[in-house]
Amino acid sequence: MIFNKEDYTVENVVLGEESITFRAFRNRIYVDKPVNPEFQQMHIFAPEAYYAGECIQGYTLETAPIFMPNTVGGYMPGGLEEPGLNEWQEEKKPNTIFRALQHGYVVAVPAIRGRVQRSEDGIYTGKAPACIVDYKAAVRYLHYFEKEIPGDSHKIITNGTSAGGALSSLMGATGNHADYESYLEEIGAAKASDAVFAASCYCPIINLEHADMAYEWQFDDVYGTMTEELKEVSREEAKLFPSYVNLLGLYDETGKSLTLDENGNGTFKEYIESIVIASARRALEQGMDLSDKTWLTIENGQAVAMDFKGYVEDITRMKNPPAFDKLSMDSIENDLFGSTTENFRHFTKYSREHSLAGGLMAEECVIKTMNPMNYIEDGGAQTASYWRIRHGECDRDTSLAISAMLVLKLRSEGYVVDYHAPWNVPHAGDYDLEELFTWIDGICKEV
Ligand code: DHB
Repeated sequence: MIFNKEDYTVENVVLGEESITFRAFRNRIYVDKPVNPEFQQMHIFAPEAYYAGECIQGYTLETAPIFMPNTVGGYMPGGLEEPGLNEWQEEKKPNTIFRALQHGYVVAVPAIRGRVQRSEDGIYTGKAPACIVDYKAAVRYLHYFEKEIPGDSHKIITNGTSAGGALSSLMGATGNHADYESYLEEIGAAKASDAVFAASCYCPIINLEHADMAYEWQFDDVYGTMTEELKEVSREEAKLFPSYVNLLGLYDETGKSLTLDENGNGTFKEYIESIVIASARRALEQGMDLSDKTWLTIENGQAVAMDFKGYVEDITRMKNPPAFDKLSMDSIENDLFGSTTENFRHFTKYSREHSLAGGLMAEECVIKTMNPMNYIEDGGAQTASYWRIRHGECDRDTSLAISAMLVLKLRSEGYVVDYHAPWNVPHAGDYDLEELFTWIDGICKEV
């Protein structure tokens, strides 16, 4: 494994009135035995000013945080990315990498394998847990070459959205855990730490084996044009959720236990309501007009209560039940949990038992590696100290309960979590980079 620090280019990117000059260390293969070299390499960028001995935001070449976004969406392969414009936007704006470099961060962007990839002989090479294994291997590479690579390798902050947000949360939760060791060894990852300082996660699609029940609990009775069979699936899934929540033993900041009764009501539901109400409050403070939200009670300009059913009817459901582990076994997640030889597999008992496809079940140990909830209380994992989690108030890709449960578990174990559900924000990420960078600067200066 090599990192040649003399192999770089100095480049300038001008976007309208703004420009950045940076040093680019491109295409570094971050493992010794790559399965798919194109997707097991990384670009590293650093502001060129650091090499002239200058400071940006008080940071230097040695102290700058290493911002490490992944480009994964839909558990597809995540490619390399350059500082430039967001091509997918109508009014193309400077992208996250450009903004992060401009702010003074070193930026490391790994490519990561995804669920659809196959080798020449037809073997699937990107099924779970390949994506998280690659992200870890890339972090190990940064640690292994920490003396050569710009920035402070003790200040690695991962970032991602949706499936990428899930990967960021896994990086935060599972640092150096033995469950990943054999996979890392297989691809020749560096013998170094894969723990990170902080994780920034936008709408993480996590806790996949409990996401179906959480979805039906939230979108209970919001059936749209569903068949009677699907309505029954929805009711059965929703019924499974309370015992899962109760088993987690969650409590809020005041020590109040958060539970659900068999009908799905209780303090946990009130807690989810409080997240939506907090979202509305912040929107009102920013001067937004929420008077058309008939499910929201506003008194003296303050959001004080809400009707949960009215809220979910307003945001509407996006997925039919089961939302993730499809009985037809053809979802993104069924694909993620395939094996080297099977493209799709189930990952919940319910869907396996009710399968219309007669498919196999993924191994328990593989399902485990994709869920950060399994590692937060595990002393064998070095969990990130700092977390920033954003889950849009009207996101319908997964239940708000999913991010809330992660937050509650993290907080109860003493980790610092900045959590908010921004008003009227759907399934999206990187929409508040200034606030994200302020948070990063704050935590980096705290230690
Ligand atoms: C993503 C979105 C989904 O609804 C899902 O089930 C998995 C991944 C995504 O956007 O990454």
